Amino acid sequence: MVLDLLKKRRSIRRFKPDTVSSADLQTLQEAVLRSPSSRGRNPWEFIFVTDAELRGRLSRAKLHGAEFLAQAPLAVAVIADPKKCDVWIEDCSIAAILLQITAESLGLGSCWAQMRLRDHDAQTSAEDYLRQVLELPPDYRVPFILGIGHPAEAPPGHPREALNWDKIHFNRFGSREEPQP
Ligand SMILES: Cc1cc2nc3c(=O)[nH]c(=O)nc-3n(C[C@H](O)[C@H](O)[C@H](O)COP(=O)(O)O)c2cc1C
Repeated sequence: MVLDLLKKRRSIRRFKPDTVSSADLQTLQEAVLRSPSSRGRNPWEFIFVTDAELRGRLSRAKLHGAEFLAQAPLAVAVIADPKKCDVWIEDCSIAAILLQITAESLGLGSCWAQMRLRDHDAQTSAEDYLRQVLELPPDYRVPFILGIGHPAEAPPGHPREALNWDKIHFNRFGSREEPQP
């Protein structure tokens, strides 16, 4: 059940040193390639980064919030050619959440590191820095990178009663009355 996975899922930023097995790597690759995309244009591509030195450089792409990429045994940079589709951000985001849920199903933990709209330093955007580190063609975008690995922390899933149920409306904004079937 997908809901059982979602009940357990939390962002994981601390990882054991164990590498991700090649069987799990294969599963993750297949999962992202099965992502739906607008008009089936598949504007995304994925760079699976296992090299520790390279992951260290990815972890320094922005000022804060990407440090965990150095420790995660696998970083997946989601990249896209925006010329292929006007809604490339949506397409990339869908692929990312499928990757995170598939990782969860394999007993792996993951966390998203936002790169689009973030700075590397006062002069350079995180994406410009990453284009150089990952040797991307100049027009390619790097909206985010996911860190994946065997969890070394186990934050509890969000309790059902803590969910923002007031974000759910029925038929019209503000109507909380669930229609009877
Ligand atoms: C679009 C997006 C951007 C995020 N960016 C980062 C980030 O740069 N660094 C980070 O540590 N976590 C990042 N996260 C993870 C969120 O902080 C996390 O999902 C949120 O705090 C809820 O916690 P949970 O995933 O454990 O439920 C991001 C999540 C999303 C969906």
